[in-house]
Amino acid sequence: MQHNAPIGIFDSGVGGSSIWEEIHRCLPFEDTIYLADSANAPYGGRSQEEIIALSIKNTEKLIELGCKIIVVACNTATTNAIDILREKFDLPIIGIEPAIKPAALKTKTKCIGILATKGTLSSALFTKTSEAFTKDISVVEIVGEGLVPLIEAGKIEGEEIQILLEKYTAPMISATIDYLVLGCSHYPYLIPQLQKLLTANVTIIDSGEAVAKQTESVLQSLKLLQKEPKTPSLQFYTNATTNTLEFLLQEYSETITISHQKF
Ligand code: SIN
Repeated sequence: MQHNAPIGIFDSGVGGSSIWEEIHRCLPFEDTIYLADSANAPYGGRSQEEIIALSIKNTEKLIELGCKIIVVACNTATTNAIDILREKFDLPIIGIEPAIKPAALKTKTKCIGILATKGTLSSALFTKTSEAFTKDISVVEIVGEGLVPLIEAGKIEGEEIQILLEKYTAPMISATIDYLVLGCSHYPYLIPQLQKLLTANVTIIDSGEAVAKQTESVLQSLKLLQKEPKTPSLQFYTNATTNTLEFLLQEYSETITISHQKF
């Protein structure tokens, strides 16, 4: 594999673009190809068999496009399919998991909140990680039902999302959490609204930066980092409308290409 091959990133839809932003910030000379499987979003309510089949399809497409590493920028796909992807494909695969460990280590109220999809919260990998780090603290687990479809439609503000966020944060506020872990790559787009509801007493943690650093470290150890400073090719493919990616990534509109493709 060549060091100048692109980094491949996939998500059930547009949300993993929050992870792409961190990867691009950390590795600005790397070419990237992002697949938004929005035609099949959300993954969160799907069976594990379906999530595995969709994750294999996306990985095969990124390999066909010549990627040197795959970043699964979707918590639901990571927690349900990463072991199978690593067994099946012969290239490095990075996953994204809810950052339970730092929250559990830092909490002073001994109570943390986790907002994630049903698919993530019910997965064996999530249960294992949660059990390992949260023995002495309470965890308020909330399924963010309905949030991913609204974010996919670009509705990250407004009454509909506000009503859901008020409902999901209420039990966390009552339980006096001091850390909220975002367990879905779509949710970082909701941080301003969540922070307002939870107030400054609660620290919100997402996993984007950790995934970017892990990607850098794996590429470095395999001597696959892009060596020369250059203007990178930054391609986004979606199998649904390009509108939401254009809206979420408008600050990069001069440097990225977003197109519709069947995959
Ligand atoms: C989903 O597709 O349901 C959400 C993606 C994620 O878990 O990050």
